[in-house]
Amino acid sequence: MFAPWTIACAPSITTSDEGRKFHEFVPQCGIIRPRRGKQWSRSLWRISNGRARRFRRSSGRRRFSRASRSRQRLGIYKARAAFTLLYRLGEEAKRRGVALTSSGNFATAFAYMGRWLGVPTALVMMRRTSPFKAEQVARFGGEIVWCEDRFEARFETLRRLEVERGLLTINHMEDPNVVIGHGTIGLELLEQLPEVGTVLVPISTGGLIAGIALVLKERDPRTSVIGVQPEGAQATYLSFKAGTIVTIPETRTICDALTATRPGTLMFSLIQRYVDDVVVVSDEDVAEAVAWLAREEKLVVEPSGAVGVAALRSGRATPRGPTIALLSGGNIAPAHFAQFLTTSSARA
Ligand SMILES: Cc1ncc(COP(=O)(O)O)c(C=O)c1O
Repeated sequence: MFAPWTIACAPSITTSDEGRKFHEFVPQCGIIRPRRGKQWSRSLWRISNGRARRFRRSSGRRRFSRASRSRQRLGIYKARAAFTLLYRLGEEAKRRGVALTSSGNFATAFAYMGRWLGVPTALVMMRRTSPFKAEQVARFGGEIVWCEDRFEARFETLRRLEVERGLLTINHMEDPNVVIGHGTIGLELLEQLPEVGTVLVPISTGGLIAGIALVLKERDPRTSVIGVQPEGAQATYLSFKAGTIVTIPETRTICDALTATRPGTLMFSLIQRYVDDVVVVSDEDVAEAVAWLAREEKLVVEPSGAVGVAALRSGRATPRGPTIALLSGGNIAPAHFAQFLTTSSARA
């Protein structure tokens, strides 16, 4: 059995064959460095397309840096895991096609990477999925398979596709390739800010934080990794506090990508091992953070991607040292985004 934590002991997964291919082919995976002589701890930086820029304003409470995965080509970081999963498939599975379930962002990345690698993809999504995200999936040629609005229904539908159509189904909550793919973000953060003290990472099923925490902690156990969930979808928060996986009956939050009713078993074991704390933020905190990022930093970040900034600005997280809030996604319909600007007032 593959032991995911070994990837951090390797010199770098970017030196492996998959890593080389990844960096060769995936435009949004460029390594970005701060400008020479600038201190990340003193300045606010924006990371986009190979350039780091000083932020316009600091947050009133504290200065911190952001890693804007929301500004990547698909508006989301998930191409890393999608590539790793699809690239490593056997030829037969690549020919027949694969199925995965997602709240929208993973589906977009999977459809995009599937088209690029020539693998047919079927994406199981709940009917309440944001139409904006569904459109993106269709644009990249992914087949959408709708299911009822229940987290477990997504996995039941996946199993049906496996039986009825012979598709290879991927459970992204338990797949080590997801950890490897997202681990590349940890490697990038280390390249960009080697003295990083704290990283705040949004959590749904736990794959994103598992990959990042594994890389950062294996390199330096003093780095603090804090997970953030919305109050209305706090399954990992409850599990972390209980020391065992807790399943919640349903989720209710404006963060439409953070809808897991439980963390994955593999992901939770890595979270227990590597994550320092998990905190929750209210939907009001998130709305304020989305408005603040737009008004002060001119950034389009979807609510799920803004929970780290929400935790810092509301004081719910206590970071140590140079701090990074990962802006994990920017896929939000313009009209929906406008609502945040008109109804939420950003605090100073
Ligand atoms: C924008 C965004 N941020 C964070 C996450 C959390 O990812 P994970 O399920 O790996 O915890 C997701 C998952 O879909 C997402 O779309």
